Amino acid sequence: MGIEDILMADESLFQNINAFDPDYFPQNFNYRDTQMEAMAMSIRPALRGGQPSNAIVLGSPATGKSTSIRKVFELVEKTSDKVVCVYINCQLHTTRFGIFSQIYKKLFGHIPPETGVPFSRIYDQIMKDLQKKERSLVVALDDINYLFQSKNADKVVYDLLRAYEEYPGVKTSIFAILSDLEFKYAFDKNVNTVFIPQEITFPLYTYSELEDILRDRAKAGFFPNVLPDDILEQIAMYTEENGDLRVGINLLRSCGNIAEADASRQITQEHFDKAMESLVSVNVFETLKSLNDNERTILRMISDYEGIYTAGELSELFKQKTGSSYASFNRALDKLEFVRLIDTKFTGKGVRGKSREIILRFNPDDYAI
Ligand SMILES: Nc1ncnc2c1ncn2[C@@H]1O[C@H](COP(=O)(O)OP(=O)(O)OP(=O)(O)O)[C@@H](O)[C@H]1O
Ligand SMILES: [Mg+2]
Repeated sequence: MGIEDILMADESLFQNINAFDPDYFPQNFNYRDTQMEAMAMSIRPALRGGQPSNAIVLGSPATGKSTSIRKVFELVEKTSDKVVCVYINCQLHTTRFGIFSQIYKKLFGHIPPETGVPFSRIYDQIMKDLQKKERSLVVALDDINYLFQSKNADKVVYDLLRAYEEYPGVKTSIFAILSDLEFKYAFDKNVNTVFIPQEITFPLYTYSELEDILRDRAKAGFFPNVLPDDILEQIAMYTEENGDLRVGINLLRSCGNIAEADASRQITQEHFDKAMESLVSVNVFETLKSLNDNERTILRMISDYEGIYTAGELSELFKQKTGSSYASFNRALDKLEFVRLIDTKFTGKGVRGKSREIILRFNPDDYAI
């Protein structure tokens, strides 16, 4: 081994490998000013003792919703101690107790004991503290769809927004964050009377925005000159096609890993091609493994059909074939969309324009379903 090789063995292409992690907080966060301003406007009244408003934050995966809300919360807390902002990841905290424990932790610095303390006491302590200190509470329920799965959404929203009835003067609001556009119709009637949100939408990034964001991320993660422009362009192009910025960020990382394993100082076309191969198949394989029978049956039906099904047609056929209910069809379809194996597109036809077309997001010939 020559001196060069010895040195190379320890050399990394990564300036900061964490720059590609899911929880990395980007230094440059552009193209979301309009949405963050709208969020700030909703919270603003609370800074002067008024009522913050509710919002529903909608947009496809990886359009910057979670990052935006966390940035705005950080700024609000820097500006004023009259507003308590609590960010809750509903994928991690799915129960009423779990969610209020997070709010409790924000106020008192530690989570309440998990046993022996009834929910009502924790709720009471939270609301009394807000009341006494005259602070408003803004809660972001990120990926709130998980609360629908655990059937806790209505209760949690109701508990939060009706608090003022029992605790006069308490001001609360909710930011519900979701990547499923059907969400609006999912609340209970009681909740719809208290949760009247303004909508803040996150459109997909354009190609040039994606290229810019990915270039920034590469700059933060790699040493200079590791990523040639033409590879960046290919990554950005694939990301646009796929519609998910996270895929682009992952691609950056795996290109870097493959180049590094190859003891190269630069990412080459060959490294990119390899990264593409493994990226697509690993994701789909893993996801397919996790499906239940209904979900698998639906996927097979879609992939065996030459044309494009609407959700209505597919649910009829599914019911005939399996004898299962519409509810289980809808559950399975939601899951398939959530794990990004399918896309459902509104056609503007059908009842209230709500008919949807179902499209596979992978090539079924490449996988055993
Ligand atoms: N404008 C941007 N600039 C830089 N990075 C961004 C931008 N928008 C999103 N990202 C990055 O993309 C990834 C996904 O962003 P984020 O988690 O905020 O999306 P999301 O809309 O909450 O997605 P999901 O619906 O899947 O929860 C993160 O790594 C984030 O840093
Ligand atoms: Mg998110």
